[in-house]
Amino acid sequence: MYVSGTQIVLRTRPVIRASLENFELVTMDVDEPEVGQVIVKNNWMSVDPYMRGRMDDTPSYIRPFELHVPLEGGAIGTVVASRAEGVSVGSTVSHFAGWRSHALLDATAVTVLDAPLIDSQHYLGLLGTTGLSAYVATTEIAPVRQGDVVFVSAAAGAVGSIAGQLARMFGASRVVGSAGGPSKGRHLVDGLGFDAAIDYRAGDIPGQLAAAAPDGIDVYIDLVGGGHLDAAIGAMRVGGRIALVGAISAYQERKPLAMPADFYRAYTSRLMLRGMLINDHMHRFPEWIPIAVAGLADGNLSATNTIVDGLQNAPAAFLSLFAGANTGKLLVRLGD
Ligand SMILES: NC(=O)c1ccc[n+]([C@@H]2O[C@H](COP(=O)([O-])OP(=O)(O)OC[C@H]3O[C@@H](n4cnc5c(N)ncnc54)[C@H](OP(=O)(O)O)[C@@H]3O)[C@@H](O)[C@H]2O)c1
Repeated sequence: MYVSGTQIVLRTRPVIRASLENFELVTMDVDEPEVGQVIVKNNWMSVDPYMRGRMDDTPSYIRPFELHVPLEGGAIGTVVASRAEGVSVGSTVSHFAGWRSHALLDATAVTVLDAPLIDSQHYLGLLGTTGLSAYVATTEIAPVRQGDVVFVSAAAGAVGSIAGQLARMFGASRVVGSAGGPSKGRHLVDGLGFDAAIDYRAGDIPGQLAAAAPDGIDVYIDLVGGGHLDAAIGAMRVGGRIALVGAISAYQERKPLAMPADFYRAYTSRLMLRGMLINDHMHRFPEWIPIAVAGLADGNLSATNTIVDGLQNAPAAFLSLFAGANTGKLLVRLGD
């Protein structure tokens, strides 16, 4: 054995809503690496809304988490032992074996962040699939053009906060974000440069959207589904584009996502609705990274992270996504 560590396993599957009882923190022995393997001590891990779907034993685009086996997810760590050429002890790496203090991995499963361009935590947020999702949504799935009015839901969260800032960079004439509560709304307008914010928890999303974008919207980045998608379809201008990126309002439900209430309007307004899974777009990372780094450097992009300390707090952090506890990307810090 190389070291004794800890990991979070799925203890039970949720009946409807996921809860802390579904998770268990257990100790584990990490074996010595074999030839071609490394041991990574994790420093940061990501908790993401899509992980809720993996807790159910139902067929989906990604296989379910297995019971009594450590969960998976994006992580950043330091190589503490290596028997692999090209991955030296001390390297900072990204990989997909989060939810554990240490990971024994084939070297092919890690990406060395040779000379991290910015603080390594951002490789799970702005420089990770979070930032890439916002970039692909606003450039390819529902491309933002000069002068567009753009609406983003879950706009104070990880993907939404970047999508709104990118819409501005790409020439939107007006960017409207939806978030839960007045303080998140202030963050959108005062901190991130959105033109207006709506508080969906105050109700009447269509009315608030009409007030914030009186001439309608051209692009909607949907991260929430449900009433937000209904309201957006009702507000779209002819020829508008909708990126179907996420539907977090339905993830804790045990029923299929409802069809938009007035879907016929998508026909008559000649709308384009396109779904997205970021796994199809990983080849765009080399294009995205320099844009993200430059955006941070010149102040056009701001990356907010909400940090929770301790692997033992990762399940609560994950569940808090569904209550909107985070602003920006929610990360768990495991140690330095
Ligand atoms: N298609 C893909 O490949 C892809 C990739 C990344 C993410 N996504 C999706 O994008 C969405 C956002 O993901 P993220 O990682 O950026 O998470 P996030 O926005 O940082 O966190 C989730 C946020 O959703 C909001 N929320 C939770 N329940 C809600 C509800 N019932 N109605 C409205 N808002 C609700 C909360 O903010 P409030 O305080 O505003 O409620 C919360 O902060 C998710 O649907 C996710 O599955 C998809």
